[in-house]
Parts: sequence; structure tokens; C-alpha cells
Amino acid sequence: MLGRFFRRKDNQDSTEVPLDLTNIPSHIAIIMDGNGRWAKKRGLPRIAGHREGTKVIKKIVKKANELGVSILTLYAFSTENWKRPKDEVDFLLKLPESFLNTYLPELIEENVQVRIMGEKSNLPAHTVRAVDTAIEQTQHNDGLILNFALNYGSRYELSKAIQQIASDVKTGSLSIEDINEDLVSAHLFRPELKDPDLLIRTSGEIRLSNFMLWQLAYTELWFTDTFWPDFSEDELVQAVKDYQLRGRRFGGVQSG
Ligand code: FPP
Repeated sequence: MLGRFFRRKDNQDSTEVPLDLTNIPSHIAIIMDGNGRWAKKRGLPRIAGHREGTKVIKKIVKKANELGVSILTLYAFSTENWKRPKDEVDFLLKLPESFLNTYLPELIEENVQVRIMGEKSNLPAHTVRAVDTAIEQTQHNDGLILNFALNYGSRYELSKAIQQIASDVKTGSLSIEDINEDLVSAHLFRPELKDPDLLIRTSGEIRLSNFMLWQLAYTELWFTDTFWPDFSEDELVQAVKDYQLRGRRFGGVQSG
């Protein structure tokens, strides 16, 4: 099955419409889910699914870049993923390093800028080193921003923001009346990145799993039953085409 579609009011089917290169979502966020089930279906250990899923990232980055997407945020490790067996956690936290060891030269060549969104302080030193090196080596690029959500949880991110804002109020550098939506956004992990236009979640789960809850307020959501290791460039295009059929009103009314 290509995608999980909810019946559109206008009955339009995005598989039948051409891609509009003038209306590409500038920020796409992806919850890469289903690695474990992909592996189980093949009688393989869960880590085989994570390994296969890592290869898919490179293909999707390349395609997103070709389409003209500005920011691609990938949910790679959540603050809740620490609850998994230690072997799996260790494996997951080695993936950024192995991914970057293999692909950093190509990412540099493709003008990609690497970023990270999450709590670095309790990540293993080797993970932080690999990501920091990639950030540094791609800092002068100005193409696609590849933003890895690593040790990321939206409630954690918001709690940190509230702590900082409360502390500024306490010290008198901020007054309560100055607290507004822009100020909260400015205290999140990656304030420089605009909110996602399109969220994709693979594997058939229809939930947000503590991912960018503030930033997704007006994001278009797209779900597919495909497990992440089987996600393809064609399916990315499919999601973008479906996005292009949506009328985004941001709480207002449709113009025209
Ligand atoms: C969810 O699938 C996936 C993850 C928790 C990890 C996602 C990570 C990658 C795809 C690779 C990360 C690579 C880099 C370079 C950062 P699951 O294990 O929960 O699948 P399941 O729901 O089928 O068990």
C-alpha cells in the first residue's frame, strides 16, 4: 500500500496529479518508524532494521535536496528510546557515527548542512564527536539543512524552554507580559528553523510520539503503512503531491 489516505473532500487523488515544483514544502519532518517490524518480518534482529533504515536516510536526503526542500528533520532517537534494551540503545547511538563516516563526504559535496536538535549532554562522547565534526565541516554549506532529532523529546524541550523563561523572569531580565508565542519558539532547541510544513510518519502508526508538538501546530500530516527501511524516493514525492492538494488556512479562510 502506497499511503494511508483520508478521503479528501474534493475527491482528488494525489497519485494522479503532477508534482508542482513551485509548491514544495520547505520543511519536511519525518518520524522514521517500523525498523523493528521490518526486521522481524524477515526473521532478523531489530538492529538489522535500524541498519537498513540508516541507508534509506541518504536516498531521502538526496531526493529532498533535488526537490528543493530547505530543511529535513529526522526523528533518530527520542528521550523515551533510552527505555529500550541496552544493546539496542548502544547500536542506535552508534548510527550517527557510522552514517557520517560513510556519507559525510557526499553530504559536503551535495551542499548539505548538518544540525542536531536534542539534549547532547547525556549522549555518548563518540556520538557527539561525530555529529559535531559533521556540523563543523558543513557549516559553510548553504543547501538543505539535515536536522537530526537526537535524544529529542518535545515535552523535554518545552520544559527546558519554560525553565529558562522562568529564570529570566526571576532575575528581572524579562517581564511576564513579554511571554508570547515568538518568545517560546525562540527558546526551543532550533529556533532558527521554521516550523515543518509536512510531517511524514511511516509504519502505520497514527501518532506524534512526543515529536515537535509545538512546531507541528499547523503542519500537514501524512501517514503511510510502509516500514521505514522500505520508504522510497517515490513515496516521498507522493507525500509532497498530497501536501500540494491541501488547502492550508492556518485558522483563517481560503483566499480566492
Ligand atoms: C523506530 O523504529 C526507529 C527508531 C527508534 C530509530 C530510527 C533511526 C534510524 C532510522 C537510523 C538513525 C540514523 C542516523 C544516522 C541518526 P522501531 O525500532 O520503533 O520500529 P518498530 O516500531 O517496528 O519496533
